[in-house]
Order: sequence, then C-alpha cells, then structure tokens
Amino acid sequence: MKLSIGLPVLLGILSSAIWGQQTPGSANFITATCKRSLVQLDLPSQYVYNMFVTFSALDQYGRSFEISDELARQCGYATTWDPWGNIKFRASLLSCYAQISDVNSTLTMRIDISPNPDKSRPVTYIKQASCPYVWNAREILCEVNYMEVSVRRKIPMIAESAFPDEPEDWSSAFPEAVAGLVSIWQVVFHLSSTRKAMLVSDAQKTGYGINTTESRILLRAPYKTAEAQLRKFGNVNFSVVRSTIFYKQRWVILLVDSAVACPVDDINYTTQMITWSVPKSISPLLIGSSSLKSSQVAFGVDLLTLTNREIINRNYVVIDNPQVTMVTVPIGASGGYYKSHVLNGTYGITYSINVFLEHTWEDNVWGVTKYTIIKDITTPFDPRPPAILNETVPATKKFNVSIGTFLADVQLVNVTVGLVTLTVQQLTGLNYISSVKHPNGSISFRLIIPFTDPIVTIQFVGDTTRAYVLNVTFGFNIIPNNETFISSIVIVTLVRDAVLPEPSGYCDQNSLNVIVKRGNVDANWVPYVQEIPLNQSKAQPDGISVTANSTHYTISVYRFSSKVMFEKRLNISCKYTTNKMLVVQYGYENPPTPGTQAKMGTITLVLRLSKDNTYSTFYNDTEYPVVKHLMEPLYFEVELLYSVDPQLELFLEYCWATASPDKTSFPKWNVVDNSCEFKETHQTIFHPVTADSRVKFPSHLKRFEVKMFTFMDGNRTFTGQIYFHCSAIICNAKQLFSDPLCTKSCIPSRQRMGRSVELVTERHKYVSSGAVVLKSGALPSIKQWHILTP
Ligand SMILES: *[C@@H]1O[C@H](CO)[C@@H](O)[C@H](O)[C@H]1NC(C)=O
Ligand SMILES: *[C@@H]1O[C@H](CO)[C@@H](O)[C@H](O)[C@H]1NC(C)=O
Ligand SMILES: *[C@@H]1O[C@H](CO)[C@@H](O)[C@H](O)[C@H]1NC(C)=O
Ligand SMILES: *[C@@H]1O[C@H](CO)[C@@H](O)[C@H](O)[C@H]1NC(C)=O
Ligand SMILES: *[C@@H]1O[C@H](CO)[C@@H](O)[C@H](O)[C@H]1NC(C)=O
Ligand SMILES: *[C@@H]1O[C@H](CO)[C@@H](O)[C@H](O)[C@H]1NC(C)=O
Ligand SMILES: *[C@@H]1O[C@H](CO)[C@@H](O)[C@H](O)[C@H]1NC(C)=O
Ligand SMILES: *[C@@H]1O[C@H](CO)[C@@H](O)[C@H](O)[C@H]1NC(C)=O
Ligand SMILES: *[C@@H]1O[C@H](CO)[C@@H](O)[C@H](O)[C@H]1NC(C)=O
Ligand SMILES: *[C@@H]1O[C@H](CO)[C@@H](O)[C@H](O)[C@H]1NC(C)=O
Ligand SMILES: *[C@@H]1O[C@H](CO)[C@@H](O)[C@H](O)[C@H]1NC(C)=O
Ligand SMILES: *[C@@H]1O[C@H](CO)[C@@H](O)[C@H](O)[C@H]1NC(C)=O
Repeated sequence: MKLSIGLPVLLGILSSAIWGQQTPGSANFITATCKRSLVQLDLPSQYVYNMFVTFSALDQYGRSFEISDELARQCGYATTWDPWGNIKFRASLLSCYAQISDVNSTLTMRIDISPNPDKSRPVTYIKQASCPYVWNAREILCEVNYMEVSVRRKIPMIAESAFPDEPEDWSSAFPEAVAGLVSIWQVVFHLSSTRKAMLVSDAQKTGYGINTTESRILLRAPYKTAEAQLRKFGNVNFSVVRSTIFYKQRWVILLVDSAVACPVDDINYTTQMITWSVPKSISPLLIGSSSLKSSQVAFGVDLLTLTNREIINRNYVVIDNPQVTMVTVPIGASGGYYKSHVLNGTYGITYSINVFLEHTWEDNVWGVTKYTIIKDITTPFDPRPPAILNETVPATKKFNVSIGTFLADVQLVNVTVGLVTLTVQQLTGLNYISSVKHPNGSISFRLIIPFTDPIVTIQFVGDTTRAYVLNVTFGFNIIPNNETFISSIVIVTLVRDAVLPEPSGYCDQNSLNVIVKRGNVDANWVPYVQEIPLNQSKAQPDGISVTANSTHYTISVYRFSSKVMFEKRLNISCKYTTNKMLVVQYGYENPPTPGTQAKMGTITLVLRLSKDNTYSTFYNDTEYPVVKHLMEPLYFEVELLYSVDPQLELFLEYCWATASPDKTSFPKWNVVDNSCEFKETHQTIFHPVTADSRVKFPSHLKRFEVKMFTFMDGNRTFTGQIYFHCSAIICNAKQLFSDPLCTKSCIPSRQRMGRSVELVTERHKYVSSGAVVLKSGALPSIKQWHILTP
C-alpha cells in the first residue's frame, strides 16, 4: 500500500480523465449482496459467458486498482466461476479501498467485460454496495485464498501476566519493536524459534495486508507466506501466522496480537460423503484465555446460514462438541452441483459445494471472537465410464444400443460406425438417435440403426446365418469447458436367413397333395386358387381342401375337381389314366398368373456361355466352372435342339441367377424379366441371331448379354458360384388358337424377329447353365442388382 497522502486532488482529476473515455453501462444485471462480513457480486453467465472479465476496486478518489490474484490475496477479494459460467466475486468488508466506518462499509467495484482475450474494447460497469455490519472484538475470516484477522483497537496494552504459559511472551517482543527504525507501524512475526520484525511497508511488499480503520487493526495474509507455519490441531493441519502489530496511539505504543490460523486439509472424501472437521482448540487463537464461553456454531451454504430443519432436509449432518465441529455432506446433496469432466480419456464427475462454518465464542482475553471458514469444496474426480447396453432384438432387424448415464452437461457430438461418421444432426434426421432424460436430471442416449443400413457390416456364418456387425464409437463433448471423450462397442447379432416355405407333393388314389413346410419368414403365408385364399377357416372351393398345423399345411386337390389348373414356376404333376394333366402351383407371387392345360412333348433346350460376343465358341462341359470377373460381360445363348420346324420360335420368358444349382433357391437375381431385358438397371441386352453355318433356324435361338454387373446381396457384393436359369416358351405359328404367353406385349422386338402375334401353342421348359464363378475386383460404383426377397 502506497502512502499517497497529499495527492488526492490531482489523482482525482486524473482518474476522472480516464473515466471520461468510457461510458459505464448499466450494471443492473449485477447483483450485490451483503453476506456476513463480505459483499458478493453475482454476474449471470449470459452476460459473461465466453467473455473476459476484469474486476477492479475503486478507492475513495475514484482511482481504479485492477485485481490480480496477488492483489486479491493481499486485499481481500475472491473470484469463483461455476461450470455454467456464472461468476461470483466476494470482497471482505475490510478489503483495501473500501470506505469503512464502524457501522458499515462501502465498496465500489468496476467490472470490465471484453469479448477479446487481450481484454480490449471492454464494456465497463460500476457497482457500488454498502453493507452494515456490527463487528465483534475479534473477527477471523478464512477465505478460500486468504486469511484475515481484525481486532478492535480499544485493547489495553498487553500485560506480561496474561501469558503464563508462553515463554516467548508478547512483552519479550517489545525490544525488537522499539529498536526498529520506525517504531510506529511495525509488525513482529513469531516464528517457531525466533521472531522477525518488519516495517509495515515491507510486510506489505511480501504480500501482507496491514491497515487500520477508525476502530480496528487488520492483518491479512495469503495461506503460504515465509512467516506462515503449518501446525496440527486435532487431526487437521492449519496455516498459522502469529504476529504482533505495534502501533502508536497518542503518546503510547500499543501492541496487539494479530494471530490468524486457518485449516488447510480439513476435508476428507469417501465415495458417498464429504466430511469436514474443524477442531475448536486452535491454541494460537486462544493464548491467555482460560475457558470458552457461549460457544455457538453456524453452518451454511453460499454464505447463508441454514436452520437445523434445513440441514436435516438436505441430509447434511452437523455435529458440534467442545472439541470439534464435524459436518458431513452426502455427495450429490442439494446445495451443490455435479460437473462432468474427462481425465485420461475417461468420463467422470465431480461434486462441488460452497460451505461455511462460523464459530462464535467469548473468552476472558478477547471478549467475543467470530471465526468464519469459507470452503469451496470439489470432490476428487470420480470415473464413471458410461455403460453401453445392447438391447437389440434381432426380430426387429434393428440395432438398439443405449449409452449412459451422463450429467446434463454432456452432449453427443457424433457417432462413427465403421468408417462413417455421422453428426448428431444427421442421426436425428435419420431418426437413429434419441436422448432419454431421467427423473434425476441425468441423460442417456439411444441409438437405433436398421440392419439394412449400408454402414452395418454383414458377415456370413455358415449357409443360413448372417452376422450383422455394428462397430460403433460415440463422440461426446462436455459444455461449457469443451472436454471431449469417446466410447466404443462392437455388437454382433446373428440372424438366421429367411427360410422360405418348402413345398413337396405326392399323389394318392383320388387326389394330388401339396405339403408346404412353413418357412421362418412369416407364419401367415396363404395359398391362393385364383383369387380365393385357401384358408382353413373359410369355405374352400369345390374339390380342394386345406389342413394346417404350426409347421405345415397340406393342400389336397380332388382328382375329379372341375376347377381349372394354375400355372407358375414350381410344378408338381401327377399323371392319371384320364390322359389329363393337373398342374398345381405354389408360388410367392400374388396373385398367381393364369395358366392353361399343357400337352407334353419333347423339347430339349441348351443354355450355353459363349467365349465372346461373336457367339462362335462356347465353354464346353469340362471347362465349368467358368471363372469371370465381376465386371466382365457374359454372353449367353439358348437353343432349341433337335427341331427342324421353321415355324417354331423360342422365347425367353424369365432368366435369373442363383447361388446354387437349384433354380428355386435364394438369393435370386433377375436377368430376363417377363420376356424383357431386365429393366431396373438395363444390365441385360438381347442380341439378334442370324443364320450362319452353325445356325440353321435363327428363330430357334436367343442370345443375350449380361453386362458387367455386380450381384448384390443386401448391400454386399456377392462373390462365388452362380448358376443361370431360363424358362423358355416355344410358340408355333401354325397352331390355330392363340396363346397369351406367345402374344405377350412385353416381348420385345429383338426377340420377336418380326413375327405376327398369331403365334400359338407354347411349350414351356427350363434350362440351366453350369457354374460361373464370380471373382471380386469389380468397381463398387457400377450399377447394382439387388437380391429379390419374396
Ligand atoms: C488503509 O485503509 C484506509 C481506510 O480504509 C484506506 O484509505 C487506505 O487505502 C488503506 N491503505 C492500504 C495501503 O490499503
Ligand atoms: C454507509 O456509509 C455510507 C458512507 O460511507 C453512507 O452514505 C450510507 O448511508 C451508510 N449506510 C448505512 C446503511 O448505514
Ligand atoms: C499435515 O501436513 C503434513 C506435512 O505436510 C503431512 O505430512 C500430514 O499428512 C498432514 N496431516 C494431515 C492430517 O493431513
Ligand atoms: C482424513 O482421513 C485420514 C485417513 O483416514 C485421517 O488420518 C485424517 O485424520 C482425516 N482428516 C480429517 C480432517 O478428518
Ligand atoms: C491414464 O491411463 C493409462 C493407461 O490406461 C494409465 O497407465 C495411466 O496411469 C493413467 N493416468 C492417470 C493419471 O490416471
Ligand atoms: C472398429 O472400428 C475401428 C475403426 O473405426 C477399428 O479400429 C476397430 O478395429 C474395429 N473393431 C472391430 C472389432 O472391428
Ligand atoms: C443399400 O444402400 C442404399 C443406399 O446406399 C439404400 O438406399 C438401400 O436401402 C440399401 N439396401 C439394402 C438392402 O440394405
Ligand atoms: C467426433 O466427436 C469426438 C468427440 O467430440 C471428436 O473428438 C471427433 O473428432 C469427432 N469426429 C469427427 C469425425 O468429427
Ligand atoms: C467450446 O466450443 C464452442 C463451439 O465450438 C465455442 O464457441 C466455445 O468458445 C468453446 N468454449 C471453450 C471454453 O473453449
Ligand atoms: C446384442 O443383443 C442381441 C440380441 O439380444 C444378441 O443377439 C447379440 O449377441 C448381442 N451382442 C452383444 C455383443 O452382446
Ligand atoms: C404338422 O403336419 C405335418 C404334415 O401333416 C406333420 O408331418 C407334422 O408332424 C405336424 N406337426 C405338428 C406339430 O403337428
Ligand atoms: C473343351 O475345351 C477345351 C479348351 O478349349 C479343350 O481342350 C477340350 O478338348 C474340350 N473338351 C471337349 C470335350 O470338347
């Protein structure tokens, strides 16, 4: 503290000049509250969040002193931030630059709020507060960053007889004091074995705050000074500064004991509790006193005293006995707050609470002493690695993962699945993510991703089981401190592939019977005859009966039924002596296509794979399986063999590929669809056939190219063996009646070879290729064919 007596007028002018440059804003958003022997300013976060705030104290002349950490310790200020960015600023009513009277103190603070780290272009606010306070003979304040003691000046000179137990009594310090250069304003520190006298100005240079008010003498010390000693009382270490201040009053030199002691390791933590114990026998504060009278303890939060009822309601416990005051606060109790943190990449939480204890007692030396300890308690980091729960129900075909719980200050930022990172906005847009708020305010997140999303990996396990693999990493951010962490899990769900209904049949004396073994896809398959469902519970068409149980159903068609027959792709035929043929269809296409009676004949077809687009050389039987790369075109030719009838024409109705030689198996990929080049992706191209030395009857052949495609199974490229199959129709122009299959409008011109629509009797035949092995290496960007699922 600099003595600046004699300059007030000049400095007043200077400081108003400084003030003239800035227009202080309205400080109404800052609340000032008188709390015990302090004044507290509250700055709500919306005004100061992400801003750079400077506090300065104004003295009576309007001079401004910026409060650094060091000045705060010396002059009685403390600033704390909570996690939401609210700022609390506390000043002792005896802080430097306060105008202190016996009944009240007036403090004027200047607050500069700048958006810039260099604190440039601030908006300046001035806040003044006047707080009445009735001082006790001695007041000791243990703030979070300083210790302060003030004593009434009307203390009689200390008599030697007052210290019977202390060999290094106060009067023995007297020679040092009077021997000093300036005997007024001197302080003598009592160290463990010696004493150290200092001028007040020197003590202030080393960080002490020493001053007088109208009626009091004041010493303020940081916790760690050269003269502070660590001493243990009860189980607790205290920082102790023992000092005597010498001052001149009129013609006598007076000295006053200005010892101060504050606990430094008085808090213990368990996983559930905070325990705070403060012993009462702090001997440096009790020198000379024989007994404590009317000892009273107040406890509270945020400098407000709590009643016993409030203490009980909040589940705190305060135990006070003549030796010690012990407070327990359950972690999480009301009055404090939790905060999320990341340590070493791990999520965890802390709990913070601002508490105080105030012990007031009376003794025969000091009269009344008020001893106040303020503590900002924060529990040690408590790791809370989030629990990731796999709540996938395979039948829903969706991954269902929950992760949590977290405090509400945790934000989900992104989710990485495999190599793809989706932001929360994207996930929300897809409806993949939701957050769950729990009654206690904590949150968790739920991720739901369909198995069919391409970011899900599919692996095949055996023939009928596939593994859906979700390798997921959640990315989080904690606000407002922007600490980030991640959490990962790999979930594998095994799903049996669809098993389709499997029909088989047999004939007995009077009926044809189709037994269908239900698959696992859907228990509700219903066979139809034309538009009529063959439902057990309903009336069934004449001559047809259905019986069913949980695994099979059986359709019986009475031999002499008048019903028409039905066509498709799976035929079960029975031959009866009537020379009539029955064709019963079971299929997954609905409704079934109409069919006609058929006459049997000898039709032989061959499906060949040409070595190139000239259709001159073909792979022979010994060359199968033929290995092809995914992008390579395949040239197929179907030929009607052993016919010399130029009126016959072969049409391809359907061609498709399967992964097994069984043409009815799945997966299945369309190549020629309803006599047309497969339309969805135009991967199939018909090629015209012209007569040459090998081809006598071009109408007996069809050629098509399956062009550079990828077989996709789900969103996965299929590699391995595939087999091609075609169903062909042989139409005869000489027949008198028209056959709808021969006149289908969809038969494209290149197949039709210009024939009229009067083509007639059809023969219907399947033909299959040998195995073609598809090797991967295809570019993924080419058009994809998707598996057909029933
Ligand atoms: C001492 O207290 C007086 C009165 O409050 C004040 O004017 C002065 O600035 C203080 N001195 C120091 C060095 O703090
Ligand atoms: C406190 O003191 C100031 C002068 O320092 C005076 O203006 C104010 O009225 C006083 N307030 C109270 C409540 O006594
Ligand atoms: C007190 O401080 C000493 C020295 O730093 C330390 O060894 C001791 O453990 C502390 N006592 C308690 C109770 O923490
Ligand atoms: C804290 O716990 C330690 C170990 O149990 C004990 O030695 C110490 O006395 C406790 N401190 C307080 C202030 O209770
Ligand atoms: C951080 O984690 C590493 C590896 O798990 C461990 O070795 C290290 O001790 C941890 N550090 C802290 C401060 O917990
Ligand atoms: C999960 O993905 C990460 C990359 O995102 C990878 O490093 C890790 O090996 C994957 N884990 C498994 C089991 O596939
Ligand atoms: C395959 O991925 C595409 C987008 O890339 C998506 O539209 C389609 O639904 C997916 N299909 C399957 C069967 O997963
Ligand atoms: C995902 O979020 C985490 C945590 O916030 C972050 O570290 C990571 O960089 C983010 N990843 C991407 C690709 O943005
Ligand atoms: C946290 O991140 C946000 C958004 O990136 C940013 O505006 C803010 O300044 C950051 N806060 C801190 C304390 O770094
Ligand atoms: C996740 O849950 C599904 C369904 O219960 C189960 O099939 C799968 O094995 C589980 N995966 C993991 C990694 O626990
Ligand atoms: C269902 O019917 C089939 C064929 O009639 C029979 O083989 C099977 O045992 C029956 N299953 C049950 C559970 O009754
Ligand atoms: C099949 O073709 C290969 C290669 O062109 C040839 O060596 C072989 O003799 C042929 N086999 C038959 C039975 O034609």
